[in-house]
Amino acid sequence: MNFELDSIGKNFTSKQIYTDSERLQIWGKDWTNGFEINPSAIVFPETIEQVKEIISFAIRENVQLVPSGGRTGLSGGAVASNGEIVVSFDRMNAIKSFNASDKIVTCEPGLITADLQTFAKEQGFFYPVDFASAGSSQIGGNVATNAGGIKVIRYGLTRDWVAGLKVVTGTGHLLDCNFGLVKNATGYDFRHLMIGSEGTLGLIVEVDIRLTSPPPPQIVMVLAAEHSKDLIKVLKEFSQRLPLSAFEFFSDLALSKVLDHRELKAPFDKRSPFYALLEFDALQVEEAEKAFEVCEKAAWVQDAVLSQTENQSRKLWQLREGISESIASYTPYKNDLSVRIEDVPEFLEEVDTYVANSYPDFEVCWYGHIGDGNLHLNILRPEKLSIEKFFELGHEMSPRIFDLVSNKRGSISAEHGVGLLKKDFLSFTRSDEEIRIMRSIKSIFDPHQILNADKLIPAGVGTD
Ligand code: MLT
Ligand code: ZN
Repeated sequence: MNFELDSIGKNFTSKQIYTDSERLQIWGKDWTNGFEINPSAIVFPETIEQVKEIISFAIRENVQLVPSGGRTGLSGGAVASNGEIVVSFDRMNAIKSFNASDKIVTCEPGLITADLQTFAKEQGFFYPVDFASAGSSQIGGNVATNAGGIKVIRYGLTRDWVAGLKVVTGTGHLLDCNFGLVKNATGYDFRHLMIGSEGTLGLIVEVDIRLTSPPPPQIVMVLAAEHSKDLIKVLKEFSQRLPLSAFEFFSDLALSKVLDHRELKAPFDKRSPFYALLEFDALQVEEAEKAFEVCEKAAWVQDAVLSQTENQSRKLWQLREGISESIASYTPYKNDLSVRIEDVPEFLEEVDTYVANSYPDFEVCWYGHIGDGNLHLNILRPEKLSIEKFFELGHEMSPRIFDLVSNKRGSISAEHGVGLLKKDFLSFTRSDEEIRIMRSIKSIFDPHQILNADKLIPAGVGTD
């Protein structure tokens, strides 16, 4: 470390800056596996002024920063591998105000997603963006990655709920973007540029989140299917009859892992290769039953279970939401892919065929948000293979899988972001010209290259 942390700013106390190895190992990473963890320090700003001081320090001392939220990311966006200073927003987690006329909560970036959901409920409103990591993820991180999750087919992504943003750029300027307005036709909307920029353009220091009305009571249905391709027919049949709040899927392998890990009971006596989990308004139950009859007659589904109580709904949701945690001990090679819904069946088959032919020892654990075309492909590490060797094979496999994605004009990262993990593969989804423009935009907002400098934009691509 060749900088004097004491000079970071006069308002910092010793309890806001840490350099002990235990903390460095915790705050220097997110949930992504396989990267070296090597930060120099962690700083916990408590005010916007302190964030600006950190930026000034980084410019002065030529040191790079890694913004860090709930550290639930799966693409290494919050990993510090190169002696960077981690800027953790854990202590900027307050709800600053609520404006019921505009339905806007103004909060600090470190607010936990679940705390925002609870606050919304207490006010008689609803924050609909939801995912399994809602208990740890923070709003700033959600905005930085444009987090999606399990309700996207009804409510959209984080982007759709951000009414305003305050951001400190890499030059230390505070941008106040959009002020929570609905209408603001004054040129480029930097709010939307910041959303999903993975901490490469600025540090998010305040967010205006719009809430909505609470949904009516919901019902969960789990369906069993023989073939993944039939799930898309099921999706079409249901969604033309009733509005769906969620349409998720998982394979039988994924189900086995979650049943073991959480000691749950299987939803059906007879197991099937695939399952879909649907959520919809309780008022629509008759329409849902009619849709099920059509699907059963066509042999697209073999069985169904419907929740009768909220508790049963929660239990059924565990079958889907518990998967990620249940397979963590296999250090899976994770992929987060998307294609258009009509391309999902063929794409699934192509990937399955490729992996089965090329890596017959690998188990493929499919799950995800099939209702919006987002498939999580997790390859489980065979016990006898070292983590290093397994990841080496994973990297070897990625270009082939990403070719299949690219042929379908899909995305190599649907919702987890690019970070360190996908950076070298960005060209499978974005053109050289797009990457060149990304680099130019970064140089405007972060001319000193201090903000997540090694993330998102691949070295060498799109340079003149
Ligand atoms: C999920 O949908 O469960 C999350 O994106 C996490 C994961 O993909 O493992
Ligand atoms: Zn997901």
